[in-house]
Amino acid sequence: MAQYDVVIIGGGPGGYNAATRAGQLGLKAAIVEGRGKLGGTCLNVGCMPSKALLHASEYFDAAANGEFAKLGIEVKPKLNLDQMMAQKAESVEALTKGVEFIMKKNKVEYVKGWGRIDGPGKVVVKAEDGSERTLETKHIVIATGSEPTPLPGVTVDNAGRIVDSTGALSLPTVPKSLIVVGAGVIGLELGSVWRRLGAEVTVVEYLDRILPGTDTEVANAFQKILGKQGFKFKLGAKVTGATDNGKQAQLTLEPVAGGDAETLQADYVLVAIGRRPFTQGLGLETVGITPDKRGVIANDHYKTGVDGIWVIGDVTSGPMLAHKAEDEAVACIELIAGKAGHVNYDIIPGVIYTKPEVATVGKTEDELKASGVAYKVGKFPFLANSRAKINHETDGFVKVLADAKTDRILGAHAVGPNVGDMIAEICVAMEFGGSSEDVARTCHPHPTRSEAIRQAAMGVEGWTMQA
Ligand code: FAD
Ligand code: NAI
Repeated sequence: MAQYDVVIIGGGPGGYNAATRAGQLGLKAAIVEGRGKLGGTCLNVGCMPSKALLHASEYFDAAANGEFAKLGIEVKPKLNLDQMMAQKAESVEALTKGVEFIMKKNKVEYVKGWGRIDGPGKVVVKAEDGSERTLETKHIVIATGSEPTPLPGVTVDNAGRIVDSTGALSLPTVPKSLIVVGAGVIGLELGSVWRRLGAEVTVVEYLDRILPGTDTEVANAFQKILGKQGFKFKLGAKVTGATDNGKQAQLTLEPVAGGDAETLQADYVLVAIGRRPFTQGLGLETVGITPDKRGVIANDHYKTGVDGIWVIGDVTSGPMLAHKAEDEAVACIELIAGKAGHVNYDIIPGVIYTKPEVATVGKTEDELKASGVAYKVGKFPFLANSRAKINHETDGFVKVLADAKTDRILGAHAVGPNVGDMIAEICVAMEFGGSSEDVARTCHPHPTRSEAIRQAAMGVEGWTMQA
């Protein structure tokens, strides 16, 4: 007889939210995690430590670059990097302990060790001391997450000069120079942290644009803003190799379009060219599951091709985002419990937590053009938003895209102050099948930056009030 209703392999946002929901629904659940702490990539080496450094470095930069002085606050900041790292570590520790507490509260058993599927309904867990324990269960949820994609010809050594995101979250000193390979979310967030603290940052990107997949108008505007902040970009550049001489890293690259190779030197190189699903040692072969490039693929609603084996989060297809993993976790467990779990993949927001922030949801203008859908655009610059103006944060704009016939909101894209928080309003409107007129006619508090969203929605209707 099975000891458990469900065993979840992986303790990240996918895994711990699945475990919590299982406990809430009265299922007997266990969560297996090998890294020694719950919280996964997100809490330990992802979302949370990166946001801790983004928050702290933003204040440092504001003090150092004259923003505070402009407000009449004259200070000469002195960086204490050890303290900045310590407060980050403390917050991470508190969060991971918090997840342990949530497991206890919901009567979920936390099994420490690396889990391996050993045939249907069986998970073998190897503890740190080498001992093994078999868990028998009705359902297995795979939530093993992702790992950095390696760059051919480049060896990442987080103790040396060539690092991935995990290394870049804990550099021992502020580099004079940092090369970031990959103009994606990690590169621009962590590049921002170190630029603010004093590094000269050069971003090398294979494509001829930053943030592929993001609305092009937003990405181009964002690149200009980052350029003003001091970021240097080498777009359309192919990295052919990298070496670490102990003191510096050397990167060789050549134009993708052909041309002369060049060599760049920097104190550190951060490789951030994407992440890939993690299934190493998981024993998928024992149940006949073969992952592809997107990971373990669900045939239908988080169900793999094998009865009783489910998959959620970064290790399966879709955007590699914590909130996507969390939503899949809840839906998956609800389905296991015989309820109607569901995730709306058309409304998964994406945010880049730089200054200013970038926030997107729904279809981009590029996608609408490509699919031939007739749409209307409303746009509003933060330069014309009174709160942004009074706060001297006028870079950026909001763009709302709506169906030309029905006015239903199809997407919204923004670069500007606090847009990461503000995009949730559009998510709710879209979830309710709302139109741009619905948002335009909704009273918004004044003076807030959220008025820029309302004004952009009014713009779709052609009656923006301020400009
Ligand atoms: P993970 O969080 O990767 O968790 C999987 C867990 O499974 C890991 O702890 C791993 O140790 C464990 N595991 C793997 N195999 C086994 C096994 N066989 N046995 C036991 N345990 C196993 N997303 C956002 O939405 N917002 C952000 O701001 C954000 N910032 C990020 C910043 C960085 C630097 C990085 C790297 C990522 C960031 N992400 C962010 C992405 C986010 O971290 C992931 O989308 C999210 O963690 C995915 O959750 P998950 O549960 O699927 O996997
Ligand atoms: P990414 O997919 O966002 O960006 C990778 C970039 O590297 C792309 O611009 C790509 O064109 C480029 N690239 C690929 N191969 C290259 C090569 N050989 N040379 C140069 N450039 C190359 O991946 P990133 O930044 O590593 O992030 C990984 C994942 O983590 C993302 O899927 C993201 O969703 C998630 N994440 C989310 C955050 C957030 O929500 N704020 C923050 C950080 C990460």
